[in-house]
Amino acid sequence: MAAEYEHPYPSPELAAAHPFVPLDFEHRSSAEIAARAGAFADEMDRRRSVRMFTDTPVDKAVIAAAVRAASTAPSGAHKQPWTFVATQAPAVKRAIRNAAEEEERVNYLGNRMNDEWQHALAPLGTDHHKEFLEIAPWIVVLFEQRYELRPEGERGKNYYVKESCGIAAGIFVTAIHTMGLATLPHTPSPMAFLTRVLGRLDNERPFVMFPVGYPLDGVLVPDIKRKPLSDVLVVVDEPCA
Ligand SMILES: Cc1cc2nc3c(=O)[nH]c(=O)nc-3n(C[C@H](O)[C@H](O)[C@H](O)COP(=O)(O)O)c2cc1C
Repeated sequence: MAAEYEHPYPSPELAAAHPFVPLDFEHRSSAEIAARAGAFADEMDRRRSVRMFTDTPVDKAVIAAAVRAASTAPSGAHKQPWTFVATQAPAVKRAIRNAAEEEERVNYLGNRMNDEWQHALAPLGTDHHKEFLEIAPWIVVLFEQRYELRPEGERGKNYYVKESCGIAAGIFVTAIHTMGLATLPHTPSPMAFLTRVLGRLDNERPFVMFPVGYPLDGVLVPDIKRKPLSDVLVVVDEPCA
């Protein structure tokens, strides 16, 4: 027998205690859903990480819209435990590039990355040169908020911070691609220099940074293949235990 809603959400008590509004939702035909699903997957399959950008300017409003999209991400207890810090200032980008190159020199040349890691990176050909951090018109750094800083200075707990920031990062990347720009999730770790250069607070920790801009004409990307669906999707029809 099919399950039924014996406990509708919200309960009358809940609705009396906290505000609720009708869901804004557009019902589509199953044919339209199938078409949109396929078109979206195809479009996302065209997304690639780019490591050479032009210096063509990008409007601040466009970056703001991408962050607005990212900040719609679901988050643990709706804490939205993120801050996106954006810069197009040449001196700030230069400072980030210099510090990133310093860390990456130790990673790549000083053997801070073990052999297995370096082997995995070999087909991508990444190294300690990060010119793109100065040339791309924008760098956007996503900081995770390890805890909440309340206006009176008290600390509040955040929940599922990494999961929430991961989803926000995914939506940011999707927004940038969908609007017709390119980015690279970049993690020149350790990334504590970003806290210093960008003057951030103690409750924030750099999660990932994104140079954003137009790809250089004729730019090459590694000829990598994505796992087939059969490797990443498992459909279960019966309880296993
Ligand atoms: C969390 C994360 C960190 C990454 N860090 C770097 C990085 O520091 N440098 C880099 O060149 N690429 C970095 N990448 C990009 C990956 O190498 C890239 O996503 C992967 O090779 C697949 O290529 P694609 O993005 O073009 O599909 C990172 C990606 C993710 C998701």
